[in-house]
Amino acid sequence: MSNSLENLEQSFQDRIDRGEKIEPKDWMPDRYRKTHIRQISQHAHSEIVGMLPEGNWITRAPSLRRKVALLAKVQDEAGHGLYLYSATETLGITRDELTEQLLAGKAKYSSIFNYPTLSWADIGAIGWLVDGAAIINQVMLTRTSFGPYARAMVRICKEESFHQRQGFEIMLTLCRGTEAQKQMAQYALDRWWWPCLMMFGPPDAESTHTEQSMKWKIKLKTNDELRQQMVDQTVPQAELLGLTIPDPHLKWNESRGHYDFGEIDWDEFWRVVKGNGPCNKERLEARRKAWEEGAWVREAALAYAEKEAERTAVSAAV
Ligand SMILES: [Fe+2]
Ligand SMILES: [Fe+2]
Repeated sequence: MSNSLENLEQSFQDRIDRGEKIEPKDWMPDRYRKTHIRQISQHAHSEIVGMLPEGNWITRAPSLRRKVALLAKVQDEAGHGLYLYSATETLGITRDELTEQLLAGKAKYSSIFNYPTLSWADIGAIGWLVDGAAIINQVMLTRTSFGPYARAMVRICKEESFHQRQGFEIMLTLCRGTEAQKQMAQYALDRWWWPCLMMFGPPDAESTHTEQSMKWKIKLKTNDELRQQMVDQTVPQAELLGLTIPDPHLKWNESRGHYDFGEIDWDEFWRVVKGNGPCNKERLEARRKAWEEGAWVREAALAYAEKEAERTAVSAAV
C-alpha cells in the first residue's frame, strides 16, 4: 500500500472515530463503498420484497380499519425501499443495476420474507415480531457512519414503530377473542418466532463481516447482542398476550440478567438464504413480473424528462 493511500485510510478512520458522518462525495476506501452498496441495497430489496407477504392479505383484511392500516404499512415499506435505493445510488451504482442484481439472485434480501403468510394472524405476528426485529436493528443504524443511510433510518424508524404497534394490536385482539382466534395467534407465533431470531444473522463466531463493520461503525452491536435484545424485549410481550414462545429452553437467567434460549436451526437459515426456502422462487418471480410490467412506465418517465429538458433548453435560448 502506498504511503498516501495509508494516510487517506488513517484520516478516514480518524473521522469515523471522532463520530463524523461520511458523505457521498467524501473520499472513502473502496471496501467501505462496496460494503455499503451491498448492505444498503440488501436492506432496500428487503423492504420491497417484504411488501409481498403482507400485500397478500390486503384484499382479505377482516375490517375496513384493518385494511386501511395494512395498506398504509405496505405503502410505508415501498417508501423505505425508495429512500434506501436513493441512498445506495449516492455511492455510484444505478437503480437498474441494483434491480438486476436482485433478479439475477446475486443480491440478497432478508430471509424472513421467504416464509408464507397462511392466516390473518400472520399479519399480526409480522408487525409485532418482524417489524419489532427491524426496529432493533435500525435504531442502531441511525448512528451508522454513512450520512445518507443514517438519515434515512431516522424517518424509517418512526414508521416502523407504527408497524410494530399495529401488529401487536392485531395479536392482542385475537388473543382476547374466541378460542379459535387465540389458537390462530399461537400458531402464527410458533411459525414466525425462530425465523425472526434468524433475522439478526449468523452467530458472532461465524459472522464474516462483523469485525470490519464495527470498526467502520456500520454496525454498532453484534448479531448476538441484537438477538438477545429481541428475546428480552419480546418475552414479556408474549406473556401479556398469554401466548407461549415455542422454545422449551427459554428461561430467565438471573446472573446474566437476560433470557437464555434454545439453539437456532442454522441449517434452515442457510437453506433459505441459499434460495431454498418455502417462497424464494415465488418472491423473485413476483419482483421480475413487476419489473417487466413496469418497463413502459420507466420509458414514459424518461421520454417525458427528455422532452422537458428540451423545452427548458429552448426557452433558455429564446
Ligand atoms: Fe420498513
Ligand atoms: Fe415495517
